[in-house]
Order: sequence, then C-alpha cells, then structure tokens
Amino acid sequence: MIISRVVGLLGLLSGAVAYKTLSDDSLRDIADPGDDFDIKNGALLAPILQPRVPGTPGSTAVLTHFVNFFQKSLPEWELSFQNSSSKTPLSGNDEVPFRNLIATRDPPWAQQGHVGRLALVAHYDSKIDPPGFIGAIDSAAPCAMLMHAARSLDAALTKKWAAMESDGETELEEAGGIQIILLDGEEAFKVWTHDDSIYGARSLAEEWEQTMHPAASTYRTPLDAIDLFVLLDLLGSAKPTVPSFFRTTHWAYSNMAAAEARLRSLKQLETAPADVFLREANKKETDRWLGGAIEDDHIPFQARGVDILHMIPAPFPAVWHKMTDDGEHLDIPTVKDWAKIVTAFAAEWMELDGYLSPPKKRNAMPELDRTEL
Ligand SMILES: *[C@@H]1O[C@H](CO)[C@@H](O)[C@H](O)[C@H]1NC(C)=O
Ligand SMILES: [Zn+2]
Repeated sequence: MIISRVVGLLGLLSGAVAYKTLSDDSLRDIADPGDDFDIKNGALLAPILQPRVPGTPGSTAVLTHFVNFFQKSLPEWELSFQNSSSKTPLSGNDEVPFRNLIATRDPPWAQQGHVGRLALVAHYDSKIDPPGFIGAIDSAAPCAMLMHAARSLDAALTKKWAAMESDGETELEEAGGIQIILLDGEEAFKVWTHDDSIYGARSLAEEWEQTMHPAASTYRTPLDAIDLFVLLDLLGSAKPTVPSFFRTTHWAYSNMAAAEARLRSLKQLETAPADVFLREANKKETDRWLGGAIEDDHIPFQARGVDILHMIPAPFPAVWHKMTDDGEHLDIPTVKDWAKIVTAFAAEWMELDGYLSPPKKRNAMPELDRTEL
C-alpha cells in the first residue's frame, strides 16, 4: 500500500486533490433515487431507455432529456457541447455527428484555469446493432446514476461554498469543481477498432488538450484540470464485481470501496450484504492488475496523462451487447446502490461532510418541459 499513500500524499501536496470521508450521519443523508430509476416512468432513467444511435432522433431526444434536467433542476451547472463529426464504416461518404454534453459546477469565485475537477463520465450513445438495442447497462443506467449524483450534491456544494466565502477561506484553500461528462459515439458501428469506437471521447480529449487556459493558470488546459476521470460503464446488472484496474488510482478505488462498505454497514444499500461490488480494496502491488486490458472512453484521456478510475465489471455482465440488455433486465436495487456509492464517493471528494440534507427534504424534480436542441 506504499504506492497508494505516496500518490495520495502527492495529490495533497500539489493542492489538487482533497478527500475527506463523510460521517455516518452524512452517509445516511446520501439521497435515495426512489422511483426516479423506474424503467417505465422514472424521471431520470426511463427517457434514456430507447435506441440512441449517434445522429438519430433517439440520440437527440436523450440529449434533450439531459439538457432539460440540468436547465430545470440544476441551473447552477454550466452546460456545454463539444461536437464533432466523422465518417464511420457504415456511413460511406457521410459524416455522422457526435455530441458530447458537459455539465460543470465550479466554486463561484473560481477563475478560468484555476480550478481542478472531479469528472464523472459515462457514454449515452447506444449500439447500432442489433436493431432496437437499448443498452440499459451500456450505458443508460450509468448516465442516470450521474444525474442522480449531480442533483444530490448540488445544494451541499452551494452551502459549502457560501460558507467558505463568508469565512474568507476562498484564498487560502483551492476548492475543486465537479463535472459530468456524457459522451457520444463510444460504440463501434462495425467491429471495435481504434478508428471505429470512442468517437466522442477521442474528439473531446484532443480538443481539450489544445484549448489553452489563460497564461499563469494553475492548469494549462481543461484536460489538465481533470483531477480524476471516473468512468462508469456496464453498471446495472446484479452481482457486479469491479476490480481495481490501475495502481496509480488504487487509492481512489479504495476510498470508493470504503464508502460502499460503510453504506452497507449503515444499511443504506438494498443489495444483499454479501454481494459486495468493490472487493479489491486490499489488493497488493504484486497482484495482477488488469489496467490496459479493457478499451473504453478513458483511453484518449489516459494517453494524455489523466488519472483514471474505471468502474466496469470484470467479467462483463451476461447481457452485454445482447438484445437482453434492456430495462427489464436491469437489477434496480443494484442500479440504486451504484448511484448512492458514486454519490458518496463524490461527496467525500468534494468534502461535503455536514452539508448534505436529509433525503426526505430533497425537493422533488419539477416537471420537465420539452425544449428543442
Ligand atoms: C452542438 O450540438 C448541439 C446539439 O445538437 C447544438 O445545440 C449546438 O449548437 C452545437 N454546437 C456547436 C458549436 O455547433
Ligand atoms: Zn457497449
């Protein structure tokens, strides 16, 4: 465990990464997603459970759902698109559009280029084949989990940053921001190759690497400003086990595993106590690390030096890339537990102990209107 301590310590010394575990009371205040993950009527999940192949009306409808959610429920989050287009093995000479959506919340006093961020990431596109494929674990459910995390932390971030401002702490401490990245074009159109896969992620990493912050910034580019890239994929089937893939971010994995264990012991999770999702907190330096074995949206970010925490089960769930990866095959207690675990991890990362409100007091989601993209 020497590596993890060293990495953690360097993080603290550079001022980039803070992490403070939540008290039991704050862990109990992690909001329950309730009916919002219902596959038929759930406000967060149901609208994503439709085919959403890049450039199709389904893709636009799901993107509209995300935009409406942030605009109506989380107006403090700054929305931006990063668009690109590319030919694909199926498109002939036509360019297929890829639209990534990024929702960012920074401390109100933060200056461009001076704030590092926790990035929570999932892809929202679905595979073109087999026709009608829904991709519930791949990755509709992970997108809904991230929406839940964002809204569960929003009020606490407001309170914490207001307290820091009124205490005059904003110059002493570098508070970080948080970012939800919903990526397009993860799936291959034909066969997974370097050119036919992760279209959105490749374009975003390249663009952010080349977008320079003002001179004298702490972070050279928006890519450098990512303190940790947490990628959720294939989550929502029962009894997942997610390994710790990378030695360099094992300390973060261990923190998430500890949050899971504490939520379980406080009886805040619905899945059976023995069905632990994160079983490798005590992995040793000399154990077998699978990092690099699974290609996914993190690749172009990792290649540019970004720290990655990859939350993907190994082995993959049985429904992977089959028609059966639909709403009916989700294990909803597992989906809800993941949402809470990821929210707790993000709350610890953002140091929100004491700022979360008891779940009952959370405002219900307002009715969403349709807006055109
Ligand atoms: C990117 O795509 C979105 C969604 O279609 C659109 O609203 C936006 O205007 C586009 N942005 C740019 C810069 O083209
Ligand atoms: Zn897939």
